[in-house]
Amino acid sequence: MNLKGLILSGGKGTRLRPLTHTRAKQLIPIGGKPNLFYVIEDLVKAGIQDIGVVISPETGDEVREALGSGERWGVSLTFIPQDTPAGLAHAVKTAQPFLGESPFVMYLGDNLLSGGINHMLETFKRGCDAVLLLTEVEDPRAFGVAVVDASGRVTRLLEKPKDPPSNLALVGVYLFTAKIHQVIATLEPSGRGEYEITEAIQGLVDRGLSVEALKVRGWWKDTGRPEDLLDANRLTLSQVRRQIAGELVQAEVVGEVVVEKGATIVRSTVRGPAYIGPNAQIEDSFIGPYTAVGKGAKVVGSEVEYSILMDESEVLGLPYRLDSSVLGEKAVVDGKGNTRRHTLQLILGDRSRVKL
Ligand code: DAU
Repeated sequence: MNLKGLILSGGKGTRLRPLTHTRAKQLIPIGGKPNLFYVIEDLVKAGIQDIGVVISPETGDEVREALGSGERWGVSLTFIPQDTPAGLAHAVKTAQPFLGESPFVMYLGDNLLSGGINHMLETFKRGCDAVLLLTEVEDPRAFGVAVVDASGRVTRLLEKPKDPPSNLALVGVYLFTAKIHQVIATLEPSGRGEYEITEAIQGLVDRGLSVEALKVRGWWKDTGRPEDLLDANRLTLSQVRRQIAGELVQAEVVGEVVVEKGATIVRSTVRGPAYIGPNAQIEDSFIGPYTAVGKGAKVVGSEVEYSILMDESEVLGLPYRLDSSVLGEKAVVDGKGNTRRHTLQLILGDRSRVKL
């Protein structure tokens, strides 16, 4: 079985502005690594080596640059430009020349799973036309929603319904045979103007083909939503194991902390789980649990907790504890000279600058 992978990394990322004004949402680092890296790792663990990546005109180059040829994972990556974000089914249609007649795993580039996708393959090998991953959610109106019969077969699907028939949301990982292309060819744009993969899967069901559903293993996050970024960072960091490659000088590093090569921690405390990226500089500071500090970032004379500091961002002399914050690449928070102590919450895009 020549199973291929298809990662969707196009789209607009409007929900994550300002972070996505300058960056692909799928490249936002979670636990110190772009979301797309976890997606590729899941595909690799499932034995998939031939992977297509759908990219947009706006962020395609950045995605290409971050992933390279795929050599790092021992896989081949083919980049597939999609001219407009006309929907998930449109992305599959755009990728059809790459996919050919192969069955494939489609993985949304902003989704993150802790339990991998191997159980989907086991079900697929027993013979069916599609395998979906589902999970119970509190408010299904923000997702694709499925109705499943007692034997685990999907009978009905709806995209972001106002009145959901179940609380089972579609997780953004799907396994299809080439039959999906025939249904996609017949689709019309939905009410919101997109070619919906959910409607294409309904088309498989309507043709009497078998669509199986499995529950997601472990946790699942759609990091395309701002409130989920920090939570995904927390969940990912809770799986890291202590590994100190950087330099510690009068530093107290407690628990599960990764300190990458070239990083220096001087007269500071880092309380895990936490990630300190390559060449990051922590001086006279406190880094609290669930914080990921990017490559070359600087924290001097400050306290940071439960936050994501992207590459080369800086937090300097801050008289507040920075909490539940996301700082874009090269963002600078400079509090030198200010002495009032409060808590501060910031969501800053790349290159933003806050002077307090
Ligand atoms: O996360 C799970 C949900 O993902 C499912 O429950 C929904 O059924 C499914 O439609 C999808 O909903 P979203 O609203 O989250 O989809 P979004 O527009 O964020 O796109 C998902 C990914 O696919 C994202 O990484 C961008 C990419 N994409 C999106 C579109 C519309 C493309 O590459 N091309 C596109 O045309």
